[in-house]
Amino acid sequence: MGKVVVCDHPLIQHKLTIIRDKNTITKDFRDLVGEVATLMAYEITRDLPLAKTTIETPVAKMESSVLSGRMIGLVPILRAGLGMVDGILKLIPSAKVGHIGLQRDEETLQPVEYYLNLPTDAQERLLIVIDPMLATGGSAIAALSALKARGCRHLKLMCLIAAPEGVEALQAAHPDVDLYVAAVDERLNERGYIVPGLGDAGDRLFGTK
Ligand code: URA
Repeated sequence: MGKVVVCDHPLIQHKLTIIRDKNTITKDFRDLVGEVATLMAYEITRDLPLAKTTIETPVAKMESSVLSGRMIGLVPILRAGLGMVDGILKLIPSAKVGHIGLQRDEETLQPVEYYLNLPTDAQERLLIVIDPMLATGGSAIAALSALKARGCRHLKLMCLIAAPEGVEALQAAHPDVDLYVAAVDERLNERGYIVPGLGDAGDRLFGTK
């Protein structure tokens, strides 16, 4: 079963409180989502492998550590996932960025892919799928399935807030995928919003509605 890592660092939790507050203006919301994404990038990269290399400091030769594992790719789910990309790129500037767009089929109510653009070497990379809100889990599950269908096997999911229903659905559909979140909230309401959540992440990021 994939891990659920709740990133409970005090800075993340403090910033998340301001993000949740309905009185937080769009600019602050956007800036803080970016800052939390940077801090979560630190946590999600904690198990990256290192190798030794020899360098010379101004004082002496030494063996020192450098990253040695897979290159990283970010795959935000449009549109709210975009709000976390720049914050992650601050820590992992060499990451390539793909995009996936999903929309709900009005008959089946299932998410259907309308856009997918991946780095050419996506299969070789560790892909971090990004969506601030893991509500029912439908979009994240569909995005991960779309990536697996293209041969991508090394996948992690980063969200800000998850509902227990979404976590359960994710683990049933993709037990190989680790989830990184800043909080797991109480439940979903009848309109599919996470309670207490933060409202509509896309609207709050982009100032729509
Ligand atoms: N998507 C959002 O933006 N917010 C929710 O609460 C649930 C899904």
